[in-house]
Amino acid sequence: MTTDVISNISITKADKSRISEVDFTDIKFGKVFSDHMFVADYKNGEWGNLQILPYGKIEFAPSMVALHYGQALFEGMKAYKNDAGEILLFRPEENWKRMNRSAERLCMAEVPHDVFMNGLTELLRIDNNWIPTTEGSALYIRPFLFASEEFLGVKPATEYKFIIFTAPVGAYYSEPVKVKVERHFTRAAEGGVGYAKAAGNYAAALYPAMKAQQDGFHQLVWTDAKEHKYIEEAGTMNIMFVIDGVLITPSLEKKTTLAGITRDSVLTIAKDLGMEVQERPVSVDEVILAHERGQLQDAFGCGTAANIAYIKSIYCNGKEYDLIPVKDREYSTRFAYTLDDIKRGKGKDTHGWVYKV
Ligand SMILES: Cc1ncc(COP(=O)(O)O)c(C=O)c1O
Repeated sequence: MTTDVISNISITKADKSRISEVDFTDIKFGKVFSDHMFVADYKNGEWGNLQILPYGKIEFAPSMVALHYGQALFEGMKAYKNDAGEILLFRPEENWKRMNRSAERLCMAEVPHDVFMNGLTELLRIDNNWIPTTEGSALYIRPFLFASEEFLGVKPATEYKFIIFTAPVGAYYSEPVKVKVERHFTRAAEGGVGYAKAAGNYAAALYPAMKAQQDGFHQLVWTDAKEHKYIEEAGTMNIMFVIDGVLITPSLEKKTTLAGITRDSVLTIAKDLGMEVQERPVSVDEVILAHERGQLQDAFGCGTAANIAYIKSIYCNGKEYDLIPVKDREYSTRFAYTLDDIKRGKGKDTHGWVYKV
């Protein structure tokens, strides 16, 4: 192995790439990982020990805080290649900012801009062969932060590890999704950590999501913890509806929903297209009524992993409501293509969202 130092990062390359073992025509989401990872440590009040290493196992003690008290959070983003072979990221600084909002809520050390961005860009340069270019594919990037200190006791740790690793991925959903409105279990309550990308939020969602999947649904639509009356988000995606030509999505001020970067981008694109956009409480009853009146023109989830996921049907109050056929979804189709084109360097980037590595 050879070691180099770039941007204060010590780089140790893998002796042999594993890329030839990967079938890029059939990539399962999150099963294959690229050759390298970026690692940084927070200790004695500062970040240091910045390294790029071969992707592999890390050692930890049984008393590591993250495993007991849940000081663990993550981010999710994607890298693409344009036709010229340049590496493109989509609004990466928004992920950095959101990660630090999550860190603040969980009393964790925030990651400085240069640690995040230099680690990310150097890692992508080294593993740039792993960025797939076939339709619907991308290199998924998983930055994450956890308390690495060893002790028992409920208090904020003083030592953290920040790691980024990547995984080539294909499309997340292969078909339009069937969702169930969840009116018993709760993902997040006001005053809680719903707006943070805390690992624990995902663990809390597993049981209700598993029950819904056993009943044949792909995803849950979460509702508010108090009354289960207002829609929040759809699994790991934000959710949007088009009713009578107006794009409507649940507002974020109660801090129970993750502020999706895709969500913000779709709202901006819709406004650019001259569409009326409403961010406000959206009740389940309103959506069902709009559907019954023939006014519900579209419903979709949006997020980094899935991009835009058409919602095929909504199950609620013991009834399944089939939405209009996907081929007639003028709005979500337009958002999906516009967004995808910008991310891949094919569409006009009027808002400066694309970051060239
Ligand atoms: C709970 C939740 N909501 C929404 C989103 C969508 O966010 P983004 O568009 O930034 O990927 C995600 C994915 O990160 C998520 O995990």
